[in-house]
Amino acid sequence: MEIRKLGLGQCAFAALAILVSSLYAQGPTDASQGPGPRISVAGHTYTQQELFQRNVGTPDDQNTQFPPHRIIGNVYYVGTVSLAAFLIVTPQGNILINSMYERNVPVIQKSVEQLGFKFSDIKILLGSHAHADHMEGDALVKQLTGAQVMAMAEDVPLLGQMKPAGKAHPIDKVLHDGDQVVLGGTTLVAHLTPGHTPGDTTWTMKAQEGGKTYDVVIIGSLGVNPGMKLVNNAANPQIVEEFTRAFQVSRSLPCDVPLGSHPGMYNMKEKYSKLHPGGPNPYIDPAGCKTEFDIDEAMFHAVLQQQQAALSSASPAIHPPANPPVSSAAAPRSAGGSSAVGQQSALIAKGKERFSAYKCYDCHGENGEGTPDAPDLTHSKLTAEQVSKFLQKPSADAQNKGMPDIPADDPDHQPLVAYVMSLRAK
Ligand code: HEC
Ligand SMILES: [Zn+2]
Repeated sequence: MEIRKLGLGQCAFAALAILVSSLYAQGPTDASQGPGPRISVAGHTYTQQELFQRNVGTPDDQNTQFPPHRIIGNVYYVGTVSLAAFLIVTPQGNILINSMYERNVPVIQKSVEQLGFKFSDIKILLGSHAHADHMEGDALVKQLTGAQVMAMAEDVPLLGQMKPAGKAHPIDKVLHDGDQVVLGGTTLVAHLTPGHTPGDTTWTMKAQEGGKTYDVVIIGSLGVNPGMKLVNNAANPQIVEEFTRAFQVSRSLPCDVPLGSHPGMYNMKEKYSKLHPGGPNPYIDPAGCKTEFDIDEAMFHAVLQQQQAALSSASPAIHPPANPPVSSAAAPRSAGGSSAVGQQSALIAKGKERFSAYKCYDCHGENGEGTPDAPDLTHSKLTAEQVSKFLQKPSADAQNKGMPDIPADDPDHQPLVAYVMSLRAK
């Protein structure tokens, strides 16, 4: 068979191209914006995209301070509307969980101070997982407070790539599954709940209120983000086992008070509105833990199933054309009549928009003309296939500088390839 003659890389690429096009074809409306599968759990219905959106919120939500408040016992909220940060207050200094994006650090500081605490009393800085919306600010928080930064071993490689404005990511102590972090009578336990990132960490602790003790669980994340590959993930072949383990561990944790790296995971807005002095504490919500695990696990299985189905329909007998990125993405559009050329320019237009959304211009210049940080894309010698591969797995140098990777089945992948190739013609 012809396919045997292809190199392994090309085979993988061909399979991916089919995967992408069949995922696109399943999109009910706009083929370029796959909402992912839809799940319904306990009266909540979400597509993959909606669940992701529930967590990350709008750019405004990410930046806007949420009223800082006491959650339970010595646990306080000091984050924004859609990015959570928690302050654990002890007589021997305080612990901060999540520094969020570096630009959010002033909001955390303001919240800590509005609650009547000193920012410089933060002695230990922990994190939910190695994504920029939770841990990019670590270097700045350390610089401002001198806090000891601790991180789960499996996330250390990703954290090493997190270098806002070139600042190296600090790590003072590497943690392992089950490690305890103890300060001033409070003990936090680090549970490895991998999948979302290899070192995703769920933090647990006990909080006292009204003479009772409550189990607090701070979910790292159990989310399958749009574009995340569960099937044939070369960078992390263990990802399905990881998620499976994460659900198992999460469900085994005693939980009275569910919290998480995004307030959407525990309905913060609604609970906060029910917080009244002397009233019952709305954050005590054992059922809420289970609901969130159920939602995330249902979505995990739905995405896994969709990706497996897409792969098995990709029979090797259907060989894509030699130069697939453009043609295979020309998925059917609802309104008839659009020409191949029209589809191609729509793809490029979308890629241009995504180039801007990902801030590729920060490094590559406004029109891909290059900066001292990254090469000129207008004179690149790479073929479309090589550009696609580079986007899936940027060189170590590009990764170290912070270039994002865009998996082949990410809806942004093909538009970006098309746009990068279009820069060449000028
Ligand atoms: C933080 C900086 C940074 C960002 C942001 C960034 N890149 Fe890069 N990119 C680099 C660096 C550095 C290289 C060169 C790496 C090397 O030569 O090994 C590179 C190389 C490339 C190449 C290969 C060029 C060639 O001819 O070898 C492509 C294509 C590319 N980037 C596309 C993108 C796209 C698309 C985005 C946005 C999704 C992006 N980059 C965002 C830093 C960045
Ligand atoms: Zn994340």
